[in-house]
Amino acid sequence: MAQLPIRIYGDPCLREKSRPIETIDDDVRQLVRDMAETLYADRGVGLAAPQVGRNVRLFVSDVDWVEDEGGKDRGVRNLKVHINPELIWESPDDESHAEGCLSLPEIEGDVFRSCSVKVRYQDETGAVRERRAEGLEARCIQHEIDHLDGVLFVDRMPFVKRRLLAGKLREIKKRSALVAT
Ligand code: NI
Repeated sequence: MAQLPIRIYGDPCLREKSRPIETIDDDVRQLVRDMAETLYADRGVGLAAPQVGRNVRLFVSDVDWVEDEGGKDRGVRNLKVHINPELIWESPDDESHAEGCLSLPEIEGDVFRSCSVKVRYQDETGAVRERRAEGLEARCIQHEIDHLDGVLFVDRMPFVKRRLLAGKLREIKKRSALVAT
């Protein structure tokens, strides 16, 4: 297993529309294991493949293992793997809550998301599954599927709030470019 470097805001990978995974083979399963290791090492709740430089439709998540605030490890592991996920239902009621992202270090902002969703996806064996999720998990699924379409949570923030972050975003982009060269 290997921990993978996280692509930071400014990296073109984060803005691409990712392609579906046609065959779930050993390479894909290896990527899943590496992404899981990276998720836990970087204390994330979710991690999408474009965030590690692979533009394929896959994300891993675990909403149970870490406390929302402060990042305390609860000692629970409940990894979920979603391959080729698609939202097949979104509740009409939504709520605003703070979000962050491993690709946008030090940035946090309130984003409206549907309170519950139904997602269809494939697991690591290729079986098609459907699941309904609420609250933090529903939010996480919407955030990660956005990544697969090249959308970042800051894009969904109100314009005025986004403008307040403009300086910080520019800084991150500059640092990201330095790393890339
Ligand atoms: Ni993210």
